[in-house]
Amino acid sequence: MITHTTVRLQTDPAPSINSLRRLVDEALPHLADKEDLIALREPVEYVLASTGKRLRPILVLLSAGVGGVAPERALNVALATETFHVFTLVHDDIMDRSATRRGLPTVHSRWDESTAILVGDFLLALSYDLLASAETGDLRQMLGTFHRMVGRLCEGQALDKAFETRLDVTLEEYLAMIDCKTGALVSCSLELGAIAGDLARADRAALVLAGHHVGRAFQIQDDLLDLTASSEAWGKPVGGDLIEGKKAFLLLSALEAAQGEDRTFFERIAAEGARPEDVPRAREVFERIGTLDLARQAVEDHSHRAMDALNILPAGESRDGLIWVVERMMQRVH
Ligand code: IPE
Ligand code: IPE
Ligand code: MG
Ligand code: MG
Ligand code: MG
Repeated sequence: MITHTTVRLQTDPAPSINSLRRLVDEALPHLADKEDLIALREPVEYVLASTGKRLRPILVLLSAGVGGVAPERALNVALATETFHVFTLVHDDIMDRSATRRGLPTVHSRWDESTAILVGDFLLALSYDLLASAETGDLRQMLGTFHRMVGRLCEGQALDKAFETRLDVTLEEYLAMIDCKTGALVSCSLELGAIAGDLARADRAALVLAGHHVGRAFQIQDDLLDLTASSEAWGKPVGGDLIEGKKAFLLLSALEAAQGEDRTFFERIAAEGARPEDVPRAREVFERIGTLDLARQAVEDHSHRAMDALNILPAGESRDGLIWVVERMMQRVH
């Protein structure tokens, strides 16, 4: 049996994490202030002002904090990960034909696809500029780490799209795909913080490993919430993955477990995408055959593995903050 870290934190990390989030939230909307933008100014400011959970920049600030670096000094690196993340969201929404994000119309639906492509391009460039303005750490290493992540993330997104039209995708292939499309950036955020904080090799490796498990937990949770979240908190339509025929965790697990009529039903969804009226039935079957529990279990298991990895870091407020973030993520509703 695997035994996992029991989390006993010395302090309550919530207030200090809220202050890290505030730091990021205050800086983001001003990132385009000095930029030479005219036609793209409004949509760029629109996405920079939209409110997300800020998971990736918070991870950067906390892991740099393990090395004693003050949040303000790691802020540019943190902002690089969030602007890059927003770039991926803008392009992801074009690819996934999503009309809503963070409770607002997506850039391509409010403006048009060309605008969304260009807004994404600009944010990608902005993220490299922010990274190049890192105030601490070995910049060459940071750029190398970042660039490797970009390659993996794009590969993951390409696989995700290719899976839409394939009927023989395995759970193993799915896991390799999410390690790229989601895990790469989460892990990179923790590693960039480790470089900024000049951490020992073993600590940096522990953060990369934790990032791998956080990425898995996070994407499986995203797939689960895509069906089970309340639409208001989720900020986008519930059941979207099934409608698009996405080979996400629930559908792939159900295809392995379902029998008879249930199986035929999921095979049709995998081939054609669900009709809106299929969504409540799919949810009922997922519940009945144990797919939702399997997903919850996987989220919990990977979160615990992440916490185990974090536990080897030097004790302190930043390590507690990282463990707390992973714990909270397991309970998130959006
Ligand atoms: C959404 O990421 C994309 C995934 C990798 C699942 P988040 O759930 O972190 O989105 P925001 O930043 O909070 O909006
Ligand atoms: C997220 O995958 C991956 C990236 C944005 C890189 P999803 O397509 O599942 O993300 P959401 O559900 O649209 O946020
Ligand atoms: Mg996608
Ligand atoms: Mg999407
Ligand atoms: Mg999703």
